[in-house]
Amino acid sequence: MMEYNFSNKLQEKIDFLNQKKTAIKLGSIHFSSKLLLAPLASITDVPYRLLMQDLGSGGSVTELISCHGINYNNEKTLKMLQINKAEKNVGIQLFGENPDDMARASVFCEKLGPHFIDINVGCPVKKVVGKGAGAALLKDLALLQKIIVAVKKNISIPLTLKIRTGWSKNEIVAQDIADMAYNEKIEFICLHGRSKDQLYSGYANWDYIELVARNAKLPVVGNGDLHSARFVREKMQTSSCPAFMLGRGPLRNPFLFLQSYAPDTPDHQILFTPLDHLEVIHKLYSNMLKFYEKDRILEIQLKKHALWITAGFPGASGLRKKLFTLKGHADVHDYLVEYFQLLEDNISKHINHDLPFLSGGHG
Ligand SMILES: Cc1cc2nc3c(=O)[nH]c(=O)nc-3n(C[C@H](O)[C@H](O)[C@H](O)COP(=O)(O)O)c2cc1C
Repeated sequence: MMEYNFSNKLQEKIDFLNQKKTAIKLGSIHFSSKLLLAPLASITDVPYRLLMQDLGSGGSVTELISCHGINYNNEKTLKMLQINKAEKNVGIQLFGENPDDMARASVFCEKLGPHFIDINVGCPVKKVVGKGAGAALLKDLALLQKIIVAVKKNISIPLTLKIRTGWSKNEIVAQDIADMAYNEKIEFICLHGRSKDQLYSGYANWDYIELVARNAKLPVVGNGDLHSARFVREKMQTSSCPAFMLGRGPLRNPFLFLQSYAPDTPDHQILFTPLDHLEVIHKLYSNMLKFYEKDRILEIQLKKHALWITAGFPGASGLRKKLFTLKGHADVHDYLVEYFQLLEDNISKHINHDLPFLSGGHG
């Protein structure tokens, strides 16, 4: 692997901004900040969660994990369940359609030491919905309640839900779920402000999120389209939600959490340079080397993140083409070192947040 000596400048900026976050409690769960990392399938693994923890996230959730995979001891599923000792405030997210199977899987998960278990009530993907899990539970609140009761009876750590607004714009149920969740002693719900039918189109309905957050008797974590520090800061200052989850935003701007803690004036703006981005890639790669045994998976993960982190920088489309020709994660890493070293220090990235980005996900 190509060596590169980093200055301490990035760490100084990270430390300075991390000091500005304030700890919160949602129900009985403590988080070091009100900005949390949202679950993303095949993305929020240990290496990435650790990176985001360093870069300001106050807590995180694993990707959605099948209760059946756990109950059948599926090797791939067990890998997804891993939590690193250095991780604070991480929840394991489960999906399933059968109360007993969900309860059994939760008992197994509790022993792995997560701070909470989260149930996926928003995944719109056919494979999940077709079996009655994920967003299908938005259409069957009686079954959702049975699952909650069964899981709660069998675990002693807190339970949370991640939901969408409803199945379609004519079947909006988030308020009903919030009421039921409060009665069943759920610690908080996270509401992605889109319906299942909407998938990722349009924008998250923040007026509705605010309405539910104002009326609910339990904390409602707001989620959806928090992709720029300005928008996140605005929500932190004005929203009825006590906390927020950030999903896709930090993929293209790994400093989104930190920038959201910065004061909102140009004078105080802390700039992150291309070399800061390279250092982030390097940290992530180091985390991946410790976590993944299979070179091929490591290579795929590194390429995916490289595409996202370089988005908006000059020459990113050429880099994209080049990445596809490279074989082996070490070569990918070395190419990124070359790419970032050629960029001027004062270049900042430009991302158009109105264009669709990663519009096919599990929540
Ligand atoms: C690629 C991708 C994978 C996702 N995987 C999950 C998941 O495993 N569990 C879940 O609850 N939500 C999942 N989601 C939904 C996100 O957590 C989040 O609710 C959604 O992306 C909106 O927030 P954002 O605009 O900040 O990304 C996924 C979304 C995407 C784009």
